[in-house]
Amino acid sequence: MSRTLLVTSALPYANGSIHLGHLVEYLQTDIWVRFQKMQGHTCHYVCADDTHGTPVMLRAESEGVAPDDLIGRMRDEHLRDFQGFHVEFDHYHSTHSPENRAFCEEIYIRLRDRRPSLIERRPIEQFFDPVKHMFLPDRFIKGECPKCHAQDQYGDACEVCGSAYAPTDLIHPYSAVSGATPVRRESEHYFFRLADCAEFLRGWTRSGTLQAEAANKLEEWFRSGLSDWDISRDAPYFGFEIPDAPGKYFYVWLDAPIGYMASFKNLCERKGINFDAYWQKGSNTELVHFIGKDILYFHALFWPAMLEFSGYRTPTQIFAHGFLTVNGEKMSKSRGTFITAESYLEQGLDPEWLRYYYAAKLNGSMEDIDLNLEDFVARVNSDLVGKYINIASRAAGFISKRFDTKVTLSANPNDVALLNHIHATTGEISAAYENREYGRAIREIMRAADLANQYVDANKPWDLAKDASQAPRLHEVCSTSLNAFRLLTLYLKPVLPKLAKDVEQFLNIAPLSWQAGLTLLPENHSINPYRHLMTRIDPKQVQTLVKANRQTLRAAQQPAPHSPVRHPEAQVRAHQPLAAPIGLEEFAKVDLRVAKIVNAEHVESADKLLRLTLDIGTETRTVFAGIKSAYDPESLKGRLTVMVANLAPRKMKFGLSEGMVLAAGDGGGLYLLSPDSGAQPGMRIK
Ligand code: 2FM
Ligand code: ZN
Repeated sequence: MSRTLLVTSALPYANGSIHLGHLVEYLQTDIWVRFQKMQGHTCHYVCADDTHGTPVMLRAESEGVAPDDLIGRMRDEHLRDFQGFHVEFDHYHSTHSPENRAFCEEIYIRLRDRRPSLIERRPIEQFFDPVKHMFLPDRFIKGECPKCHAQDQYGDACEVCGSAYAPTDLIHPYSAVSGATPVRRESEHYFFRLADCAEFLRGWTRSGTLQAEAANKLEEWFRSGLSDWDISRDAPYFGFEIPDAPGKYFYVWLDAPIGYMASFKNLCERKGINFDAYWQKGSNTELVHFIGKDILYFHALFWPAMLEFSGYRTPTQIFAHGFLTVNGEKMSKSRGTFITAESYLEQGLDPEWLRYYYAAKLNGSMEDIDLNLEDFVARVNSDLVGKYINIASRAAGFISKRFDTKVTLSANPNDVALLNHIHATTGEISAAYENREYGRAIREIMRAADLANQYVDANKPWDLAKDASQAPRLHEVCSTSLNAFRLLTLYLKPVLPKLAKDVEQFLNIAPLSWQAGLTLLPENHSINPYRHLMTRIDPKQVQTLVKANRQTLRAAQQPAPHSPVRHPEAQVRAHQPLAAPIGLEEFAKVDLRVAKIVNAEHVESADKLLRLTLDIGTETRTVFAGIKSAYDPESLKGRLTVMVANLAPRKMKFGLSEGMVLAAGDGGGLYLLSPDSGAQPGMRIK
């Protein structure tokens, strides 16, 4: 039965570059959409840049450009990167668009005008930057952690001890924008009464729209109670002004998902598609959102509630995926594993290598996936080039040279058996694609490729070619190999669209679609000359890529041209105000010593910490230092630094920390202090 689908991927922020972490989602969605289209279904894939909010506003300001110019440039960059990886949107829009403004206003007014109203106004108190004259989002307030006293922690959670708190709990808070001490100020905010939607949301959650793990997560949220959602922000803010509230803007997370509708609306206008048929209540089209597990709350609570109570249809499916790790760890700039889409392509790596590797790793769950760079090279080389491409390269030459480019149909039972076998896997492979179990699809396809290779090995075309009387058999074997290769290409096409296109050209066939593709090349069909279809990855290419992405401490410290993280507030540099004066006596209480780092190592499951063993002349100390983001432990061994030797030992989750090493940092980079040469471990610093 033919289906009609509207599919989306989460809208990337307009102030960050696309990196390999983002690509997990866009490639996962693109593969699914290509598969649906190959099935003959009507499927539209839309996306847009997520343009609004404080980070974009501040970044434009710091670059001295208008936000419109910044978001225009970023949209071009994003589109270039997506095209580079063969992500084929039917439309790529912007949340800063007239369509989006119109839908935001309409949805807001419908929610407001319900009886009882779902919008409520009430004053709240927040931190305000008296220098920048703006209210500060949590991530723009920094200070000392109230629990472990680590410095320069964000307003919502401590990255050293992991505790969560309110920005007002921070000790010595300061604005990450100006460095000023924030003051508390009241202003009126607009809230969406999510708690009033709880009953609807409970039903919706249990109606098969979510993966089991996601539904469980929602149950937890229901149990702890839904709170109202603050949907307004005060000026200055880059976004849409709320219609009946001058100086108040819709919070970026309100207009972002509405951007899915806006993007589709723009496509409908241009292509004559009936927008209402997709978005009206009771629509029998499917609305499918691919997202990362970190934004489930927005997509599985706020979004369906907003749609339901403003008279629109709700999503059919929300598919959440996990995060990307590289070599088993979080992507890291200092290790060079924070790899941008642009640099991957610039270094000449084939985008289809990554598409294949991600597909081989992906399943329908919210588990994280790991890009192991050694395994990446090995898998692509052995599976794609060694197994799949090999089938064509072993057969094509004989067909071209010996049989005037023409294939034949074989009735030999071995040949028929091979092709029947590969044919019989269709159901399994399409079910795997449909369920986003791409890893399973790839395993099936590679099993079929193994069979085809065993067939070639057993039939030895190179031996047959030596004996003129065996020419008919050689013709059958090579034709069967090419038919097998054609079926495998069909199965791989959602993952490898460019390669499939090259194969279609080589085999001289129409674009492969699922049902029609399940036939064989007809008798006497003529193929084109074989040209090399895919090269092997040279491990050196991957090394160069990592090197190109490895940022020196200096470079990391400069305001990054693009956001390094999904939540880009983290990137704004902080200016810490000077502390209150103290007397010499007070300073002398701090016993600072030259320390030699005799050992440095990672701490399991600690994102920020390194375990340092320090020699201070008379004894050795263990210190946990939050410098992992800036230093490779190996590079620290043997160097001198400065430590606070009389800091009372602190019990941490990972062990006892007996002091503190000194490092400079303002949120951009981290710089361990070093004494001048000649200093010896244990020397006092005065
Ligand atoms: O987390 C993010 O990157 C957001 N920009 C995703 C928005 S998705 C949707 F709601 F628009
Ligand atoms: Zn802490």
